[in-house]
Amino acid sequence: MTSSHTRLDALMHRGTDFLGTRYAIMAGAMSWVSERNLVSAISNAGGFGVIACGAMTPELLDTEIAATKAMTDKPFGVNLITMHPALNDLIEVCARHNVGHVVLAGGLPPAGAIDRIKGSGAKLVCFAPALSLAKKLVRSGIDALVIEGNEAGGHIGPVSTSILAQEILPDIAPLIPVFVAGGIGRGEAIAGYLEMGAAGVQLGTRFVCATESIAHPNFKKAFIRASARDAVASVQLDARLPVIPVRALRNASTELFTAKQREVAGHLDEKRLEMLEAQLQIEHYWAGALRRAVVDGDVENGSVMAGQSVGMVKREEPAADILGTLVAEAATALEKRAA
Ligand SMILES: Cc1cc2nc3c(=O)[nH]c(=O)nc-3n(C[C@H](O)[C@H](O)[C@H](O)COP(=O)(O)O)c2cc1C
Repeated sequence: MTSSHTRLDALMHRGTDFLGTRYAIMAGAMSWVSERNLVSAISNAGGFGVIACGAMTPELLDTEIAATKAMTDKPFGVNLITMHPALNDLIEVCARHNVGHVVLAGGLPPAGAIDRIKGSGAKLVCFAPALSLAKKLVRSGIDALVIEGNEAGGHIGPVSTSILAQEILPDIAPLIPVFVAGGIGRGEAIAGYLEMGAAGVQLGTRFVCATESIAHPNFKKAFIRASARDAVASVQLDARLPVIPVRALRNASTELFTAKQREVAGHLDEKRLEMLEAQLQIEHYWAGALRRAVVDGDVENGSVMAGQSVGMVKREEPAADILGTLVAEAATALEKRAA
């Protein structure tokens, strides 16, 4: 092992200890993409795969976890969305399978969810979009944090990864492991965040075109063609309907989303919808639109969620090769910095 790898191992040690993996690199859950094939390939290659539960029923999640276990004996996690109406049943499914790590996305965890997950023996990983929320989550007993910047693909917050890392790492990294996500396409950036105190990183966009990913060939082609500036954030139309922005490749679905917001806002005007229901309709819109692109391959009318690092996705290649490249780049960067 070279000295640069020793340094990388040392910097990743806290993250690899926490995840139980060779590398402190999480493959962020991606709805419709992060299922048994990609998750097991990532975990088998030394990273940490995460199943995206998305809108799955408890029965489907049960099947997916069992199928993933059949393909890898390495650790992997499950990502649950807090607003899922069957959240408690999904937590129960994870507990039955002794899932080691549950990642809770989609806002602050509802009362009881934290205790229920921790009670099952799983480690709980949450997202925090600001330092104040990160502190609150630490106080409530979470085990690790992901900080995800605005460069990321999918649902995004307003602040960039570089700012979140500077604001949150100094206070929170001494307390619990923090994984940095959003806009990471190369190992040099991984090395940088590790040196700033991150326990590890989480990447999504970079893994979409893994050979093992079941994303439709059209979806992968769109990624390979796109550059950073094609991955744009959705625009909110109505001040009363605070939709969480989504970053995706610009296409006809951008217009469809505007039309959908207009329709839902109209229903709010006519009091035919409550606010919560209106927001849920918007969320369901995204789930359907993403499925259309990932599963059906309709990359014009579906949502091709992608982060700005999409410009660094050049080809389809095995997950192990993507991880290998990232690790080699990180190790070389550390070597250069030490020289
Ligand atoms: C196609 C796609 C779908 C995603 N779906 C989810 C999801 O279901 N749950 C979630 O917590 N994050 C989701 N994300 C975010 C990723 O888990 C990850 O945090 C993000 O992609 C990291 O930023 P990057 O894209 O710049 O690498 C998604 C991202 C993409 C690109």
